[in-house]
Amino acid sequence: MNYNEARLKTKTMENFSCKSCEVCNGVACRGEVPGVGGKGTGSGFTRNFAKIKEVMLQMDTLYEAGVIDTGIELFGTSFETPIFAAPVGGLANAYNDSMTDYEYSKAILEGTLRGGGSGFLADGIAPEQFQGPLRALKEKEGRGVPTIKPWEDPEVFEKMAMAREAGAMGLAMDVDAAGLTLLADLGKPVHPKSAATLKTYIDQAGLPFVIKGIMTPGAALKALEAGAYGIVVSNHGGRVLDHTPATIEVLPAIKAAVGDKIKIFIDGGIRTGHDVFKCLALGADAVLIGRPYALAAFGGGSEAVESYTRQLTAELVDAMRMTGALSLDQIDETRVIRESALGF
Ligand SMILES: Cc1cc2nc3c(=O)[nH]c(=O)nc-3n(C[C@H](O)[C@H](O)[C@H](O)COP(=O)(O)O)c2cc1C
Repeated sequence: MNYNEARLKTKTMENFSCKSCEVCNGVACRGEVPGVGGKGTGSGFTRNFAKIKEVMLQMDTLYEAGVIDTGIELFGTSFETPIFAAPVGGLANAYNDSMTDYEYSKAILEGTLRGGGSGFLADGIAPEQFQGPLRALKEKEGRGVPTIKPWEDPEVFEKMAMAREAGAMGLAMDVDAAGLTLLADLGKPVHPKSAATLKTYIDQAGLPFVIKGIMTPGAALKALEAGAYGIVVSNHGGRVLDHTPATIEVLPAIKAAVGDKIKIFIDGGIRTGHDVFKCLALGADAVLIGRPYALAAFGGGSEAVESYTRQLTAELVDAMRMTGALSLDQIDETRVIRESALGF
């Protein structure tokens, strides 16, 4: 089953909260948090999607042909493609209860790994929302990245130890979850974290540590100072704060601030391999994709997740061939142009 077939299948599922739109752009689900939308007016989500579309590819086929390689090394592991599934939790609220956290994470990891990528895994209020994904991770020899919420210290340390025990290749923390006021309402608050606190986590982690939810050069520099392996330029799919810029808009300045000293992942509105190419051109090393992977997993399990990963990679190869980039490190800013610069 391919992505589109899986998406259409979810439309027939009972109590499925996502509208499974043909184009996942945040318009139909504006304000639906809980649910799958962006917070408030939903502008964080819709802008992520819209601004990527304003970047165009610079076609140029006047070059010596060669083998196109989408391979990358991250977390000390080789991947065939720079595409990761983003952590998606709170499944029953956002979608329906047809998949447990374990089943969802298993479908995501199996499918992305077979497709040559990997996935970040989620966390939540109930212990099973972290433990289920960890079981799936263990079955896949730790080839995924558990993402811990910015809980109070004892819980963070406990969950880091559990992730290490499961053999995780890396760890992440979605520091922007501090904007999920819903969690405090449910009796489990999450907090902003200083660079000094993050450093204590990173020193303890003993694993490459990724800080997810970075939107400014200043925050990226603090992540670097804390010793992070990487950052995810992310506004949590527009779910934690209304009226942020799009992630693609802030990416170039963040890259300029941290250079090659830290791995840069990005997410938000990335839907095609061409979108992946644009993110790499503007400074990212790899990308995360959230909602479409969730539709693939709910509608078609690991088969649709694998198929979607292969589809994205084929589109990335297409963009590389037509712009003359034979490897990911050749995808630079000269191969794209912003709509505003066309002067048409
Ligand atoms: C329903 C839903 C649940 C999410 N749960 C988590 C989570 O538990 N942890 C996390 O770091 N991010 C979570 N996110 C954010 C995603 O990881 C990611 O940042 C975002 O979805 C990327 O945007 P995209 O969906 O437009 O690709 C969630 C997103 C959605 C839509």
